[in-house]
Amino acid sequence: MIDGCRLLNLNSIVDNRGGLTIIESGIDIDFDCKRVYYLHSLPTGSQRGGHAHYNLKQLIIAASGSFDVVLDNGLNKVTYTLDNPNVGLYLSNLVWRELINFSEGSVCLVLASDLYNESDYIRDYVEFKYQSSVRNGR
Ligand code: TYD
Repeated sequence: MIDGCRLLNLNSIVDNRGGLTIIESGIDIDFDCKRVYYLHSLPTGSQRGGHAHYNLKQLIIAASGSFDVVLDNGLNKVTYTLDNPNVGLYLSNLVWRELINFSEGSVCLVLASDLYNESDYIRDYVEFKYQSSVRNGR
């Protein structure tokens, strides 16, 4: 388990017309959603992520298809397979993430707590390890 990260079962309404899944700020997630982006048209073998954030919180959903999210808090790694549009993976800040094994036609939907800001990224794993050790008093 990675502290601050968890799978969320999202409220879903299904009838004979299909499914409808709801995410509400302050109810399902503890941040105001300021940005939505999605990964799509992913070629076979595509790898995304490979970074952490100083402050950003996110909710990641397999809106279609499936993929794996490998989370790393600097000490442990946990792999989550997302394959259900009614389940979101909540990510706290200072968590290194790699997104791999995208199925054909998959769509990775991401809700984010802030606007895009390159200075919030930690793209250097050594810097990430340092930041996580400071946070955890190691
Ligand atoms: P990046 O976050 O590295 O993508 P991923 O983690 O999915 O591999 O972003 C890829 C590029 O897109 C990078 O140049 C930054 C840009 N970008 C934006 O301009 N706005 C955004 O909201 C996001 C997520 C990325």
